[in-house]
Amino acid sequence: MISRNIFTRLCALALVLPLGQCIPATPPVQKRAALDTWIANENSIALSGVLANIGSTGAKSYGASSGLVLASPSKVNPNYFYTWTRDSALVFKALVDQFITTQESYLQLEINDYISAQAKLQTVSNPSGSLSNGAGLAEPKYMPDGTAFTGDWGRPQRDGPALRATALIAYGRWLLSNGYGSAAANIVWPIVKNDLEYVAQYWNQTGFDLWEEVNGSSFFTTAVQHRALVEGSAFAASVGKSCPNCDSQAPQTLCFLQRYWSGSYIISNINVNTGRSGKDANSILGSIHTFDPNAGCDDSTFQPCSPRMLANHRVVTDSFRLVYGVNNGISQGSAVAVGRYPEDVYFNGNPWYLCTLSAAEQLYSALYQINKVGSISITSTSLAFWQAIYPSAATGTFSSSSSTFTSLTSALRTYADGYVAIVQKYTPSSGGLAEQFDKSSGGPLSAVDLTWSYASFLTMTAARNNVLPASWGAGSANQVPGVCAASSATGSYSPATNTNWPNFPCTTASTVFVTFNVLATTSLGQNIYVVGSVAALGSWDTTKAVKLDAGRYTDSVPLWYGTVNLAAGTVLQYKYIRKEADGRVVWESDPNRSYSVPTSCRRSAAIGDSWR
Ligand SMILES: *[C@@H]1O[C@H](CO)[C@@H](O)[C@H](O)[C@H]1NC(C)=O
Ligand SMILES: *[C@@H]1O[C@H](CO)[C@@H](O)[C@H](O)[C@H]1NC(C)=O
Ligand SMILES: *[C@@H]1O[C@H](CO)[C@@H](O)[C@H](O)[C@H]1NC(C)=O
Repeated sequence: MISRNIFTRLCALALVLPLGQCIPATPPVQKRAALDTWIANENSIALSGVLANIGSTGAKSYGASSGLVLASPSKVNPNYFYTWTRDSALVFKALVDQFITTQESYLQLEINDYISAQAKLQTVSNPSGSLSNGAGLAEPKYMPDGTAFTGDWGRPQRDGPALRATALIAYGRWLLSNGYGSAAANIVWPIVKNDLEYVAQYWNQTGFDLWEEVNGSSFFTTAVQHRALVEGSAFAASVGKSCPNCDSQAPQTLCFLQRYWSGSYIISNINVNTGRSGKDANSILGSIHTFDPNAGCDDSTFQPCSPRMLANHRVVTDSFRLVYGVNNGISQGSAVAVGRYPEDVYFNGNPWYLCTLSAAEQLYSALYQINKVGSISITSTSLAFWQAIYPSAATGTFSSSSSTFTSLTSALRTYADGYVAIVQKYTPSSGGLAEQFDKSSGGPLSAVDLTWSYASFLTMTAARNNVLPASWGAGSANQVPGVCAASSATGSYSPATNTNWPNFPCTTASTVFVTFNVLATTSLGQNIYVVGSVAALGSWDTTKAVKLDAGRYTDSVPLWYGTVNLAAGTVLQYKYIRKEADGRVVWESDPNRSYSVPTSCRRSAAIGDSWR
């Protein structure tokens, strides 16, 4: 902690070489150890943070149906108490990859619930349309109970179906290689098929970008659409089906993807006049979510280590150096706080945790690819990026046996760690990740506990530790057609009805996180507690009762909630009590409530009560 602060302060005091390098006040090795420790701790906070926001048993998910992900538990200023197709898919792609690595059965149950919920969501008619011609699949968000959101919104958003297909395919591959081919074919494929048909039909129409502001063509959207079509075709074949529309459209999406390249960076929104520079973390997110560990530093698929993406990383991150006070005095070549785009005015325009983490993640993924390729090719396109972090860099190809390669990769790693250190610096001691941090004070801003912020921490950590996602076939889908053509393939859509998951072997949880949710109208100074027959609930001693949280209390939903870890199978009695400002205790009316902590492979459970 202390060494990090000293480091930051010295850099902020502009201890800068003529070439623009900031001298670290502590040796890199020592710095890395402190960062390692923080990351390991924060990563488990991030995993809990994600799980808390998933219905129906997550600690902060009261009101959300099974398998639906809340964007944030925040209900006011801003109200993110909805489930977005994009955010949910990105979150579950991260959880599927965690599951594949850890084989934790409680994660698998969450994944199955998510997929079952998506099968149903696809059939919900909404203001974007319905399933009959696919149009309804691009509805950006739904109510937390899975019904349509009917208010005005930036719709359609055409990245959602592509990202959901990618998340489901990742799990489908696991099913296939672990003896559950029929679940892959009969449960996962019908949902994926609808999403792929959607992408193939509508990729060449404008829609709202991932920030829900611009109705045009978005790099992120096109990049993830290309990926989905490519891996969708391979997944179809692996379950004995085919996706001719994927095959006919994928090359054209790749062709169109090239259009975003300006020659020196990616213009993230085209086919629309935004009046902006086009410099946008949209592009960095597009690259990390189409990273393929088996691909090389390929420009046409914008791989993280490609000359184009490295050049773009520099241009995009540089665009935030002058617009945020927290970046004052940080010299080029040292990491900065990164927001969505420099012209952003949402909440006055601030850095976002997930954008800063994605800047780190791109570089870790690039480092992996470079090591795998075994050399670094610095071209005129990427030269400025390399010179920023290693001033004597020059164009050429440097093999892994050269000292230049060692110096460049070491500079790259240090630079990437710098972005994580920025996030560390502006993360409160609770470890909670909001959506943004204030551009001047660095304090958390906007929605608390943003699920996507936590998911981006998980994927950053995985990339940093070389825990790799599966290949999606980029290496054999990078040939750009000679001529780009406007095109579309009309799809056929049908409801996915099978959600009968096999009985996967699983580990029974010995303890369960039980969340007590109670609706209790209170006035200032009053607090609600839960007290009960077990020690964790104070053994009926009101002085040892568990205080509940009113952080999400509203007039219409006067929620008090709290989570207690209890042994599976425990049978208990409990009651809610109210403590008045003067300490007086008011009990609920009789009888005592009773509850049996479930014995299952699930690690969380939730109770919904109303004060009596
Ligand atoms: C459709 O594709 C053509 C050919 O790539 C491209 O010129 C055009 O901008 C695309 N339009 C949209 C909205 O995607
Ligand atoms: C955004 O553009 C699409 C055309 O691709 C159009 O159908 C839709 O109505 C537009 N949405 C809004 C809110 O203007
Ligand atoms: C509730 O439980 C307490 C503690 O065991 C007991 O003293 C009390 O009589 C119970 N109340 C009712 C209504 O059963």
